[in-house]
Amino acid sequence: MAKVLVIDDDSSIRETLEMYLSEEGYEVYTAPTGTDGLNTFARVTPDVVFLDIRLPDVNGFLILEDLKEEDENVKVIMITAHHDMESTIKAMKEGAFDYIHKPIDVNELDIAVKKALHALEMEKKIKGFVESTRDYKVGDIIGRGPRMREIFKTIGVVSQSRTTVLIQGESGTGKELIARVIHNNTSPGEPYIAVNCSAIVETLLESELFGHEKGSFTGAVTRKPGKFELARGGTVFLDEISEMSLNLQAKLLRVLQELEFERVGGKDRIRVNARIIAATNKDLKAMVREGTFRDDLYYRLNIVTITIPPLRERMEDLEPLIEYLLSKINAELHKRIAGISDEVLEMFRNYSWPGNVRELENLLVRAAVIAKGQVLVKSDFPDLADIQEKRETAGEDLGPFRNAQGRILTLDEVEELHIRRVLKDSKKTKGEICEILGISRPTFERKLERYNIPFERD
Ligand SMILES: Nc1ncnc2c1ncn2[C@@H]1O[C@H](COP(=O)(O)OP(=O)(O)OP(=O)(O)O)[C@@H](O)[C@H]1O
Ligand SMILES: [Mg+2]
Repeated sequence: MAKVLVIDDDSSIRETLEMYLSEEGYEVYTAPTGTDGLNTFARVTPDVVFLDIRLPDVNGFLILEDLKEEDENVKVIMITAHHDMESTIKAMKEGAFDYIHKPIDVNELDIAVKKALHALEMEKKIKGFVESTRDYKVGDIIGRGPRMREIFKTIGVVSQSRTTVLIQGESGTGKELIARVIHNNTSPGEPYIAVNCSAIVETLLESELFGHEKGSFTGAVTRKPGKFELARGGTVFLDEISEMSLNLQAKLLRVLQELEFERVGGKDRIRVNARIIAATNKDLKAMVREGTFRDDLYYRLNIVTITIPPLRERMEDLEPLIEYLLSKINAELHKRIAGISDEVLEMFRNYSWPGNVRELENLLVRAAVIAKGQVLVKSDFPDLADIQEKRETAGEDLGPFRNAQGRILTLDEVEELHIRRVLKDSKKTKGEICEILGISRPTFERKLERYNIPFERD
């Protein structure tokens, strides 16, 4: 049975929600204050939380933040008043799942809970999907055009040797996939060890890579072998190499030059047998020019470089990718999705795919989970709304401004929204803001009053 927590100081709202939701079969908990709410949350770990934005003790936003910190997957539905639209938008941006309006409409309430529980279930499925193991073969890389074919050739060549390979490409273009295919072709059965250079702090990364001797630093209670040792005759995949500090870059350079290293705090020289594959979505050459990446290391890594083109530059792969990904998804999720509608394909063709193949894969997985029919249609891609938003922030013309429900905003609403967005920059003085907006101070004052926007700056 799903657990729901209601945090609201208004007892009538607590009672309404409790009565309705328990009748629907949910296990309901209530709390009249933020502090109470957080305590109950820690005790019962609910799936869904209804949270009032205005609470007597702590601001609802802070509670939202705390809840997300405790459990990033929790679905928080804000309870808002109609004049709270700005706060509602803020709450959605900060990770609330949805909102319902006061006075509570039972229909709206019902839809919100069901949507939240459905999303939870979907996330669980997707997680299982992503974590499932795969074996990586050349056949798993889809690529029809000349640039991808060139990459296949290179993979073939480097798989005959153990040279260092640098893989460049935007996020989600398949850098890790290619690294794994190279590994499987070169040293199948040997360890493949991936290290994300941006995920850990410098000192830890150093001991992760090189290992450490017992007592070499506080916390080093036992000797620990590093990834270069553990990889034996396999592969060390250094992901996001651009994020490695200059200091560590120097140490890595030594490894590449001498094929030897010492553990942190150790004297023994240890031989490196592993092949190194590095990946980046940054322009390393530009970083060398700026002095943030060592040129000597760059040349060492750059012996063979594979540059994967972004999806938008190889649209000939879109359809084969969809077909390939759908068959993978069908197998994993026990579905029988046959394809996507022409309308969706058209939308996909016009999209710029900043997240590349990964983004395409994620969209298809989500759609496959919610789809009713065998052909994925536009309504199976609610995230395409997100896509639109991304394009808006990228400055593309998406037609008129709309609210969350898709209604076109009135001129007044656009004006209000614009003023509120400009005011977000708290460092600007009143004079500067008037200049940005191109209006006089008295006009500005009038607008603030009209839209009921609080403002206390000189
Ligand atoms: N050409 C391709 N053919 C088939 N699947 C692909 C292709 N490129 C990427 N994928 C799939 O897309 C997903 C993302 O790929 P991968 O993780 O290798 O990207 P990445 O470049 O390492 O991304 P990031 O920079 O975000 O780490 C994976 O599931 C991968 O299998
Ligand atoms: Mg990656």
